[in-house]
Amino acid sequence: MARWNYQDIDYDSINKERLHDNDFLFKVVAIASFIEITSDLYEMNLAKFYAGDEEIVGWLESTWEPEELQHGKALRKYVQTVWPEFDWDKAYEGFRNEYSAYCTLDEFQPSRAREMLARMVVETGTSTLYRAMTDYAKSIDEPILAEIAHNIHKDEVYHYEEFDKGFEKYNKEEHLGRTDITKVIYARLKMASDEDVFIAHKYIAPGEDFDAFKARTKEFAKQFYPYKMAVKMLMHPLHLHKHIENATASTIQGALKVLGI
Ligand SMILES: [Fe+2]
Ligand SMILES: [Fe+2]
Repeated sequence: MARWNYQDIDYDSINKERLHDNDFLFKVVAIASFIEITSDLYEMNLAKFYAGDEEIVGWLESTWEPEELQHGKALRKYVQTVWPEFDWDKAYEGFRNEYSAYCTLDEFQPSRAREMLARMVVETGTSTLYRAMTDYAKSIDEPILAEIAHNIHKDEVYHYEEFDKGFEKYNKEEHLGRTDITKVIYARLKMASDEDVFIAHKYIAPGEDFDAFKARTKEFAKQFYPYKMAVKMLMHPLHLHKHIENATASTIQGALKVLGI
């Protein structure tokens, strides 16, 4: 059972006129809706990759995918409510056609434990992004978006925890040490370039400058991104002692900022 249902959200109470000119908000929510609603392609690949593991595949199919799709639907409805003139379906079709070529098993790690770590990096990215979005929504006094982003944030943390369990399970066979784990996490962080965001932006704001959007995103991150939370989640699979963790945390926090994450 899902912890929330987007149909219970009171979209009618959104103060549309006040939000309509917020171009950054439009782009962020629309881009997120595109990426979330494309989770079915990932689910297919993940189910292939973990074929034979009924526990994982069952969870991916019955829980993970419906939750990710709900994130997409909730955000899509938000976009369609505040910016009804935007043709979501048409823009999404263009995005999906182009982006689906990137969703292949080639992007996966070479082993099951490693891919679990990669999924933890991805869920760290989403859970921290929606935490930032919640705080941003509160800062512009927008309670409905804050409610949606908070619900999604909680789901993403839960996904992270499930992939963490999967990692521990597979690492009993693979015995990845801290050096291997760090390498996978770092490689996945670097891979999280923004091809998905770039392609989504192209269809959402045709002809508009992507670098300008990125610069605006950096400003947003400076103000709202929970770096400490991100670092804690990324370092968790290393199982470091508390004092080492604290000493390493600031270094990683700096590295994240350099990577532009
Ligand atoms: Fe999601
Ligand atoms: Fe997720």
